[in-house]
Amino acid sequence: IKKANGLKGLVDTNLEVIPNQCIQPKEQRLDKSQIDNQESIPTIDLSNFDDLSVEKSIQEAASKWGFFQIINHGIPIEVLDDLKKAGHKFFELPAEEKVKYSTESYSAGESVLMFWSAIGEKDEKVLEWRDTIRHGCNPQNDSNLWPSQTRNQVLEYKKWATPLAKKLLEVLLKGLNVNEIDESLEPLLMGTKAININYYPPCPNPSIAIGIRRHCDVSCITLLLQDDTGGLYVRGTKGDNWIHVSPIKGALAVNIGNSLQIMSNDRYKSIEHCVSVDSSRGRISVPLFFNPSPDSVIGPFPQIVKDGEKLYKHVLYSDYWDHYFSKRPSGKASLDFAKI
Ligand code: SIN
Ligand code: FE2
Repeated sequence: IKKANGLKGLVDTNLEVIPNQCIQPKEQRLDKSQIDNQESIPTIDLSNFDDLSVEKSIQEAASKWGFFQIINHGIPIEVLDDLKKAGHKFFELPAEEKVKYSTESYSAGESVLMFWSAIGEKDEKVLEWRDTIRHGCNPQNDSNLWPSQTRNQVLEYKKWATPLAKKLLEVLLKGLNVNEIDESLEPLLMGTKAININYYPPCPNPSIAIGIRRHCDVSCITLLLQDDTGGLYVRGTKGDNWIHVSPIKGALAVNIGNSLQIMSNDRYKSIEHCVSVDSSRGRISVPLFFNPSPDSVIGPFPQIVKDGEKLYKHVLYSDYWDHYFSKRPSGKASLDFAKI
């Protein structure tokens, strides 16, 4: 994979079987028998964003499902389409071009730009079936370092998506009796941002590989743009079932991350999700993560623990981040670091 300078480079050589490094242990594969077509995550129409009933649906979806889709969110469809196209353009570059963006490591908030391939954190031996380019979108990150194929499209998308995320966060906070995102709350809720563009190449043996392993996001909130290929699965309400996030044209998926679960004292849920791959179709997805700034202290809002038991202690976000990315724990275990 290294020699091919990326997974796509390797797949483009007419690969017939996947490399051994990409064969996932059973527990990391998507168990087809757990796919549940009975449940589906809600789709929320934001045309009347300020209606109380819309606010309520957002708060309820975040409590019950932790994952929902939004339509009529105000971001023009061309902005979304251009971003996906830009992603394809980048991944279609010759391997030597892409690999120029490779970096070894990053830390909370500092993530600049990098190209990863067949992701495996640090010393992991089993690799995921995806290539990713990450754009750190913080004032200290220089977008001039980004590839010319994606720069303008990422900036344009971010311009539209940031106020949308802020509004969603505001509604969610209102549900916790926290009033508005003022200057002191902004760094806590959206102090750092990063946009990944993922490309999941077609895979000759999809059932034994995984595009992205089951995980919970560390973010406060993630906005996710996906193309019409499908393959994103999230845990349903039965605990061990997986439900498909069916692509809807023009929609964005939204999910609550661990940081907001902690701040909401479990009112809002950060749900485990994973991505399966397809034998004939490549897939593009674009998560935009809104994270606390590294020096933020995260813990339950006092407004929400007033009469109840406090489930988490206050921790420095960068410590939480380091812990998460050194172990990459999945599911509930990813919250243990902050648990009381
Ligand atoms: C992610 O969880 O970061 C990516 C999800 C997706 O590709 O749909
Ligand atoms: Fe994720």
